[in-house]
Amino acid sequence: MTDGGTVLKVAMPKGRIYKQASKLFRQAGLPIPEDFDDSRRLIIPVPEANMEFIMAKPVDVPTYVEYGVADIGIVGKDVLMEENKDVYELLDLGIARCRMSVIGLPGWEPVIHPRVATKYPRVASQYFRERGQQVEVIKLNGSIELAPLIGLADRIVDMVETGKTLVENGLVEMEPMFEVTSRLIANRVSYRLQNGAIQSLCDRLSEMLAARI
Ligand code: PRP
Repeated sequence: MTDGGTVLKVAMPKGRIYKQASKLFRQAGLPIPEDFDDSRRLIIPVPEANMEFIMAKPVDVPTYVEYGVADIGIVGKDVLMEENKDVYELLDLGIARCRMSVIGLPGWEPVIHPRVATKYPRVASQYFRERGQQVEVIKLNGSIELAPLIGLADRIVDMVETGKTLVENGLVEMEPMFEVTSRLIANRVSYRLQNGAIQSLCDRLSEMLAARI
């Protein structure tokens, strides 16, 4: 599976994406044992595939890959754009599909220099800058939908998957910004040194994704 017996280190996001990502890897023939799904272990070797999984907080996956402590990783396009790390984006895995949107309260009136709360300050700033709109971006770490409800922000920039969170909090999607799916990324040096292993993994995943369509 890997070049010269070197173990391929894979940064795997814990939480929401993990289930879909591990299913995809299993469908591609990679032997990820089922008991990993509920494990609290952070480093999981799979010697039969010459791989090692690093269970990471999703937002940290691009950092591990940029520094080369993981050769490849799985990460949402949202995080990839926000973190802006120096990594190769190899493959759109088409999983964890959702969208980044501008969200607000219904009947919201435009104001000069509105406040926008988000987990994605870089993405949000760029989006409004490109549209010539001056906004004050406020970084939050979660439960972003609270911000317009309690008067912290006029709008939010956040992910919409099923839309349930918006409905339950009486918010509306004002502008869909872009679609988000998970991506396979690689460290630049690993991509050269472990090219055989990484390419063969990409090929297996690509074939499997093509067969799904
Ligand atoms: C994400 C996102 C929204 C919600 C959207 O939050 O920030 O709040 O999911 O999903 P839905 O459209 O299916 O309701 P997450 O659950 O990751 O938690 P967070 O509030 O800590 O960001």
